Amino acid sequence: MKIVIGNDHAGVNLKNNIIKYFSEIEWINVGTDSEKSVDYPDIALNASKKILNNEACLGILICGTGTGIGIAANKVKGIRAAMCFNEIMAEYARKHNNANIVTLGARILGEELCFSIIKKFISTDFEGERHAKRVNKICAMEEL
Ligand code: RB5
Repeated sequence: MKIVIGNDHAGVNLKNNIIKYFSEIEWINVGTDSEKSVDYPDIALNASKKILNNEACLGILICGTGTGIGIAANKVKGIRAAMCFNEIMAEYARKHNNANIVTLGARILGEELCFSIIKKFISTDFEGERHAKRVNKICAMEEL
């Protein structure tokens, strides 16, 4: 399973610790790897492209709050980014919304909580059925 991970300057430390903790995962790291200020929309776009090109099946995006980078990723057609504060949000973002990116707030959430959120996000499948109809409606809105 290849997973893309990206972050702005606020998320460098958390990103490095996630990569270390989940050492069995094949990561595609789109940066940044420096604490020099960068613009989170650039990172969101680079990570989204990896999913749309099928280089990665899921993504993790980190900024200070998890908000900006998620708003940016959700502008990309085919991306469903879910900001998650806990495991339950991560579980249902996959089960019901078929989210392909989870966004995390490095200045908001503790590291252990982030690890649990990621574990749940990557180990949960989309349930389809009635939820597929709703996700298809979201996809149709991308054509407006
Ligand atoms: C950067 O300082 C900060 O604005 C960014 O990481 C994020 O929180 C934006 O939503």
